Amino acid sequence: MIKKYVFGNPFPTDAVIAHVDVCNDPLPFFEINGDGDFFTCLSDNEIVYGLGEQIRGINKRGWEYVSWNYDNPHHHEDTRSLYGSHNFIIVSGERLFGAFFDYAGRITFDIGYTNKNQMSVRPEKPDLCVYIIEGADEKDIVRQFRSIIGKSYIPPLWAFGYGQSRWGYKDENDIREVAENYSSADIPLDSIYLDIDYMERYKDFTVDINRFPDLEKLASDMKNNGVHLVPIIDAGVKIEEGYDVYEEGVENGYFCKNADGEDFVGAVWPGRVHFPDFLNPQARNWFGKKYETLTKLGIDGFWNDMNEPAIFYTEDRLEETLRHIHKLSQGNMGINEYFTFTGMVAGLNGNAGDYHKFFHNVNGQTIRHSDVHNLYGMNMTRSAFEALRKIQPNKRTLFFSRSSYIGAHRYGGIWQGDNKSWWSHILQSMQQLPALNMAGFIFIGADTGGFGCDTTEDLMLRWLQYSLFTPLFRNHSADGTRKQELYRFSSVNTMKEMIKIRYALIPYLYSEFLKSALDDEMMFRPLSFDFHCDKEAINVEDQLLLGDQLMIAPVYKQNAKGRYVYLPEEMMLVRMKKYDDYYTEILDKGHHYVHCELDELVFFIRKDKVLPLYAPAKNTEEIDYASVTLVGYPQSSYTLLKDDGICPDPEESLCRITLEN
Ligand code: NOJ
Repeated sequence: MIKKYVFGNPFPTDAVIAHVDVCNDPLPFFEINGDGDFFTCLSDNEIVYGLGEQIRGINKRGWEYVSWNYDNPHHHEDTRSLYGSHNFIIVSGERLFGAFFDYAGRITFDIGYTNKNQMSVRPEKPDLCVYIIEGADEKDIVRQFRSIIGKSYIPPLWAFGYGQSRWGYKDENDIREVAENYSSADIPLDSIYLDIDYMERYKDFTVDINRFPDLEKLASDMKNNGVHLVPIIDAGVKIEEGYDVYEEGVENGYFCKNADGEDFVGAVWPGRVHFPDFLNPQARNWFGKKYETLTKLGIDGFWNDMNEPAIFYTEDRLEETLRHIHKLSQGNMGINEYFTFTGMVAGLNGNAGDYHKFFHNVNGQTIRHSDVHNLYGMNMTRSAFEALRKIQPNKRTLFFSRSSYIGAHRYGGIWQGDNKSWWSHILQSMQQLPALNMAGFIFIGADTGGFGCDTTEDLMLRWLQYSLFTPLFRNHSADGTRKQELYRFSSVNTMKEMIKIRYALIPYLYSEFLKSALDDEMMFRPLSFDFHCDKEAINVEDQLLLGDQLMIAPVYKQNAKGRYVYLPEEMMLVRMKKYDDYYTEILDKGHHYVHCELDELVFFIRKDKVLPLYAPAKNTEEIDYASVTLVGYPQSSYTLLKDDGICPDPEESLCRITLEN
């Protein structure tokens, strides 16, 4: 049962696309104070799930979270905002309900931070819709919520293959070298990502012809070997006379404006940029069509970046800062002045004040950016998705974005942003998966190996053993960090086996993905969603159920030779060194210490379930569906969903194959 409550004059976010009648009764579960803040008391045993891409645990109690899309490479315990805003929570315990706070500006969720047993939700302005959902259990609430926000995006099948990325592949030779090294190491590969280095001075929809003289040929040579090139597109458009995207945008009024009605200027990778007004349907349409410049060259996937939008600085703030520094340099700098100075410099990037200084044109209405900030990234991906649907109606294109709001799940996936090569970031990624699924995002994954900082061989191994279960499986790292292509490590053979296991699992993972997308189910769930009455399961923060068949419990601690695992029911442990070299053992319900060496993958098959495994191929195109073996409980069956992996509507080619022992 879903009820919609309207407060003030909300901006239509397009998160909810089904009609829900407005309810005029008082809002249940929450009290509202004079400032328009929503309060509810939490009993000791109640758990709060959700908020999608956020830090901390599966249970969000004990911190304050701010939905404000932010280019934040510091995913620390004391972080409050990351790249996405997914304002959907479920309170479970004595009460059971879901709540979606559909608000496009800054909104704060204080979940037992100020007062341990109280949750308050504070939108910056009192203009929002609140949806309250009651249901039989958490999964039912999620299903109902997903039914009003629209079906999740389904990428092409090849996007489930392994992808190699790095910021810093500077030219065509680097790309060819990566492909050749993967091929000679016999490691399956489906995609190589192009970061900003491929563009001509970071200009969207351009290619630097000195470094990439013939992108079309490169893309076609790669594709002949089953590898798709996936270029990045950034939100900011470089200000440069003669650059068509800039000139067309200015001429047609497609950029965000400042208070004087001039095109707003910020600085990102290309230097001074304008920001396309993605909330303006005409501008969205125009920008989306630009992706065709690259699809015409044989490109069939994109990642949209810096679309919070990230702003390194604005000129007026920079000038003010420089003036201040100049003043400081005239005399002896006291300690307070020193902190003011460092604060001003650090505060240039993503300064909240800058987001109040520009405006959108939404069907003739001028809207201040800060009131709709969290919708920007979603509408960038929407522009690309909607345009490509028209340009190539018979083919899926891969899209995933850094910034998002609920609704963006209809247009693409997301990656979890600039994590670090830290052990804790394996766990953090894992804890976000169910919360993202709750919000409709199922094509998701982290930068495997870690983006910032230097990775280590053991971290990479453990990270692979986790990421090989996530729909998006991409190794990505930052320029200047240790290179982390798998062929560089002495454990290359073990890493290869892990990638092969991924390929052995792809038909299963894709099938579970389809079920999740078509039936509004969660592919990844906390144990408590399936084992409600199990007091121990409720506290498990580092294991997840995957589909109805598996439980994953990755090792995420350095030098660990295994880990403690809680089994909420009898399960079959699978210890795998290779896709066809594994050992299984039935373990009883309860706590276990499970050994897991660096060269082993350990996971669990649920009681009376089977897992189909396939012979690994060098890429997704070559997977042989006849090569299936079933691992798991005898006399069990699995229904595999399969489509052509290409047509936008999976139903057109969908088949259900029953696999039985
Ligand atoms: C920030 C993105 O999050 C990262 O993945 C990318 O490599 C850099 N921008 C450079 O484009």
